[in-house]
Amino acid sequence: MTEPKPRFRPVAEADQAAILEWLADPAELFRVYPAAVPPFDRHQLHALLREREESTILEMAGEAAGFANLYHVRPQAHAFIGNVIIAPRWRGQGLGTELLRHMLDRIRARHIPEARLSVFADNTPALRLYHRHGFAPYAMEERTDPHGRMVILLHLKKTVASDEENLIH
Ligand SMILES: CC(C)(COP(=O)(O)OP(=O)(O)OC[C@H]1O[C@@H](n2cnc3c(N)ncnc32)[C@H](O)[C@@H]1OP(=O)(O)O)[C@@H](O)C(=O)NCCC(=O)NCCS
Repeated sequence: MTEPKPRFRPVAEADQAAILEWLADPAELFRVYPAAVPPFDRHQLHALLREREESTILEMAGEAAGFANLYHVRPQAHAFIGNVIIAPRWRGQGLGTELLRHMLDRIRARHIPEARLSVFADNTPALRLYHRHGFAPYAMEERTDPHGRMVILLHLKKTVASDEENLIH
């Protein structure tokens, strides 16, 4: 039997229950979307989908398995990859890698020269993923988590080579 392959498509109405389920835990919500106010609900999700670009579902065998989008898109400068999440049961199988690659492809397709993202310093799995893809820190800031503890938010960036450059090198 052949392994299911990830498929990428825009978020649909039918995905909303899955996204809300993934973000139901306040700690997970804070990791993925710190500006949200728990409990994360349809109103907040609709507002998020309105303000973000390229809101994408990674689908495995017809099932929604991951989500990400772009924000603060400055076409001549950079775009941030946001709300990266893989459904718990699909983690550790390379799908975070596939989703990140896809979002980087979207940035490259729009000829935006730099990809950025922000990640809490205690989020080891996410940091490992981004480090493997060549993201490096350029700034950090202090935030307060839902328990009132200080946490460090790292801002990472990576140059996105255009297809032309890829051909030359
Ligand atoms: C961070 C996150 C997106 C990573 O997703 P993922 O699908 O588990 O990522 P990957 O599978 O690509 O990589 C994770 C691990 O699986 C391993 N892996 C990759 N491909 C694999 C495969 N085919 N089979 C088994 N393991 C594999 C990787 O080596 C990696 O291990 P390591 O980081 O310990 O070295 C996911 O953990 C998640 O959704 N976390 C909660 C939300 C979150 O924190 N989001 C980030 C906000 S900034």
